[in-house]
Formats: sequence, structure tokens, C-alpha cells
Amino acid sequence: LDNGLLRTPPMGWLPWERFRCNIDCKNDPENCISEHLIKTMTDRIAEDGWKELGYEYVNLDDCWSAKQRDSQGRLQADPERFPSGIKALADYVHSKGLKFGIYSDLGNYTCDGYPGTTLDTIDIDAKTFAGWEVDMLKLDGCFSNSSVKAIGYPKMSIALNKTGRPIAYSCSWPAYEGGLPPKVNYTLLGKICNLWRNFDDIDDSWDSLLNIIEWYGKNQDNLQPAAGPGQWNDPDMMIIGNFGLSYEQSKVQMALWTILAAPLFISTDLRTISDDAKYILQNPLTIYINQDPLGIPGKRILKNHHFEVWKRALINGQYAVAILNNGTDGTPRLFAANLVLLEISDCTTGYKIYDVLEQSFLGSFALDTVFYIKVTPTGVVLLFIRPLC
Ligand code: GLA
Repeated sequence: LDNGLLRTPPMGWLPWERFRCNIDCKNDPENCISEHLIKTMTDRIAEDGWKELGYEYVNLDDCWSAKQRDSQGRLQADPERFPSGIKALADYVHSKGLKFGIYSDLGNYTCDGYPGTTLDTIDIDAKTFAGWEVDMLKLDGCFSNSSVKAIGYPKMSIALNKTGRPIAYSCSWPAYEGGLPPKVNYTLLGKICNLWRNFDDIDDSWDSLLNIIEWYGKNQDNLQPAAGPGQWNDPDMMIIGNFGLSYEQSKVQMALWTILAAPLFISTDLRTISDDAKYILQNPLTIYINQDPLGIPGKRILKNHHFEVWKRALINGQYAVAILNNGTDGTPRLFAANLVLLEISDCTTGYKIYDVLEQSFLGSFALDTVFYIKVTPTGVVLLFIRPLC
């Protein structure tokens, strides 16, 4: 969507995968969906080095609203969990130099049963969000059929534009239509949305992560051309820092989301995040690659029964390459390659190669020099490759 926003993939925090629809503030006051939780995470993002790296959106997901609209038909926050209201919460986030995002659902109800945005409330909801000084809207798609979606998603795009406030627009539309053409029209999506969920919800497990990676790899010829500055494929939140991934598996998500030019929305508890998870999520070179200004997502260039290799072209003739050991037999394996085999050969003098996640320099290589990369099982090595020319 050419609204001047998200020329590089958005970065920030989303509560859903980690905190779900926990509304039990009586028994679990520190973890329920509430203004307290959002303010606490805002503080962490502002104070723990996230903001400086570009993590700037602090967003709500489902379960923020009251069970009913107000007397004038407007969405309203749950009065007990958000006693100060959403405008005050947005002000708080803005006061820390960050941006604030909200969630609604095109349909009769949100996925968890709160009031949805129906075709006749699109305009009023857009105005309400703009009045609250919201910076991003995730519009989910539960409880509506395909024809309502085909009208509603473009209609909300126009309604947001009419408010005059720059609001990044995340559309879950394709995820409800199988994510692929001809049912999904990515040319249209690129014109009306800044990002979109293409596929299933992520869960806190390696299986879920691999399933998503495989789907994006398998369907890359349809998906990769759809994305670029202002319009991104969204493989869903980052689960790094939670319970389901090992350290090496956590690196896989970071590396692949970087190669895919994916939005980097962390869904973990930033109060208790481990140093290991933080180290992965705060790696400056990974973020530099994810945020490359050309905004061209990478593609899988090889898959066999031991490895997957993904490659992304970057500005100034640079590249990122992720080598994933997808073996389940538990042994580290050597991947042998040279630059010619990776089809990185524009600069005939050769290239410098860095291991991004280990933060080490591997050396300068001629195009035909074979190098060996050791990759742990269900792990990854992310290479940053710079021309010597
Ligand atoms: C859907 C979305 C999730 C989350 C939930 C909230 O499942 O895909 O990302 O927003 O709804 O109920």
C-alpha cells in the first residue's frame, strides 16, 4: 500500500502468541491482556535496547475490547482491564517514542468472540482508531464469508485513508482464503494493505515453525513477487523467547524471517526474556539484513534431505544466505559450497563472508573456492556476503 508507511518490514511486539486471550486479571494480574501489560512491555521496549534497533510498534491483539459497543455504536475497551481507555494507552506508547497498533476483525465477532467490524461499522471504526491516534490496524477475518471479505478489506483501506492519519494496515484476508492465487489476488493486496498474513497461525513449537517455512518455500513463486516496500508477506509472530524452541531452532526463525523480509513482531515476555533469546533478536546485522531497503524477499534455492539453502539479494551487490540443517537424526553436518554454486558471481574478484549469528568473519573467498559450513541439526547458519569489488 503506497501510503508512505512500512517501506521496510515493521518491527515490534504483539501479545497474541505468548499471552493469548488471558483476561483473568484477578488471578493473573501480571499476564492478563490489560493496559498494565501493554505499558509494561512499552517500558521494556523503550529501555532494554529494542527501540534503538528499530522495534517500534507496541500492538494489541484480540481480547482488548468490551463485550459490547458503546451507546453510539463505537468499539470500546474493556473497562476493567483498560480503565484509562485506549487513547490514554496510545499516548503512553507515543510518550516513549514508540508506535501503537490495535486489532479488529472483519466479521460479526473477533476470533475470540468480541465485537467485530461489520461492513456497516468500517467507517466508524476507522474514525475511532484514528481518534485514538492508532498507528497500525491488524484486521483479522473470523466470522465473515469470502464475499464480505472481498468488500470489507478494500473498504477499510479507503476508510483508514480518509481519516487522514497514517495507519499501517495489516490484512489477514489471504490467510482465510488459502493464501494462494487464483483465490488470493496479491496485486490487489499490494495496493490496499501494508502487510498480510498468508498462512496458518504460528504455535510455540518447532513443528509449527517448520510447517510455515515449508509452506513459504513451496509456494515462493507466488509469494515472493507479492512483497516489497510498503507491502509484506507476514509469516506470523516470532516465538523466540518462549517455551517451544531450542536455542538453535530459535536462530532458524530469526534467520528465515530475515531472508523472507518478514515483519519482526516479537511475541514473548520481555520482562523475563533470556539473554540467549535477546542475543538472537537484537543481532544488529540480522536486523540490517531484514530491513534492507530494496525489500526483495529471498527464495529457497536448494532443498535435499539434509539441507535447505535460502538466498536473499541485498543492496550494493550484497547477499544473505541461510543454510538450514533440516535433518532429524541429530548430527551436525558440513555443507560444502562455493560462491558460483550459490549463484553469487557478479563480482569476479570474490566476496567477504560473515557468519551473522555467530558474529564472526569467515574470510574472503574467490568464486570457486570451496568452503565448508557446519550446521547443527534443526539449526541454521546465516551468512552475510559482501562483494570485494
Ligand atoms: C486469529 C489470528 C491470530 C490472532 C487470533 C486472535 O487466529 O490469526 O493471529 O489474532 O485470531 O483471536
